[in-house]
Amino acid sequence: MSIHKTLGEFIVEKQSDFPHAKGELSALLSAIKLASKIVNREINKAGLVDITGASGIENIQGEQQQKLDMFANEVFKNALMARGEVCGIASEEEDNYVFFDNQTSRNANYIVLMDPLDGSSNIDVNVSVGTIFSIYRRVSPVGGPVQMEDFLQVGRDQVAAGYVIYGSSTMLVFTTGNGVHGFTYDPSIGGFFLSHESLTIPKTGKIYSLNEGNYIKFPLGVKKYLKYCQEEDESTNRPYTSRYIGSLVADFHRNLLKGGIYIYPQTAQAPSGKLRLLYECNPIAFLAEQAGALATDGYNPILDLKPTELHQRVPFFTGSPEMMETAHHFMTKFKES
Ligand code: AHG
Ligand code: MN
Ligand code: MN
Repeated sequence: MSIHKTLGEFIVEKQSDFPHAKGELSALLSAIKLASKIVNREINKAGLVDITGASGIENIQGEQQQKLDMFANEVFKNALMARGEVCGIASEEEDNYVFFDNQTSRNANYIVLMDPLDGSSNIDVNVSVGTIFSIYRRVSPVGGPVQMEDFLQVGRDQVAAGYVIYGSSTMLVFTTGNGVHGFTYDPSIGGFFLSHESLTIPKTGKIYSLNEGNYIKFPLGVKKYLKYCQEEDESTNRPYTSRYIGSLVADFHRNLLKGGIYIYPQTAQAPSGKLRLLYECNPIAFLAEQAGALATDGYNPILDLKPTELHQRVPFFTGSPEMMETAHHFMTKFKES
């Protein structure tokens, strides 16, 4: 059996990739690593302990919070606060951003945005879920309270981003802007080990992932692209195959490894789509671009959008570059006024 590099060893080795961060970013990533192990442990026990199901509380977006949503939120928040490298966080499960008002944290340089548990409606049925995180340097003065402007930075300015997928195995996948690297968790040792170095997405693929139940509400460009995916054409390997888990992390992870396209479009009823720009789409878009994929709102790169609100939603298209180009072609050709 070969011994793989640990996540900790890998981060120390790559310190020179983030020269401005010294040890800070390493400590921050290690807080995320620790929190993900705790969440992983609880998810693995779901069904045995009273942690599945709804909490009876709605978040600011009117969604029912699951008990595990709230548990994961507390674990990540506390782990990040304890390390002192982060001065504040924003989360899907927090109405407003949270300032870590203690002596060490207020002098910290980083803020984190997170979706503590992505795909949480899948928990009760033992299907893969995830955690998504996005890291920026603060722009407000160090020493003072964090400000909204720290959290509304353009995605292009992320210093690191990643996700943890709690699947048939648990993996942490992240980027600091120098490629995408994946680490698989070995629960018998309690460590993450390098299993996927420098991940790149295949240029094209055979998988399309979207919630087809919403077909009637899709924009015309998406309807036309979907029909294209289903047509028969040997030269382009069509028809494609449909795969949709309903956990963005899991759907993206599969498409990253196998090649494919993921779409959560806008509809007339939800003109901004469903997914959240700051803690779902931006971090996934950073990983996507680093892996040679594209990530857009159907027209423009996600990473170039200027955020205006913490819980802002955005249409999301991401995947293999050749498939994305075809999807863009249909979006532009059949753009409705
Ligand atoms: P969350 O559980 O964090 O609210 O995210 C759920 C998101 C995303 O993970 C998934 O791709 C999408 O919602 C699924 O939505 P539909 O059920 O509308 O397809
Ligand atoms: Mn989510
Ligand atoms: Mn969530």
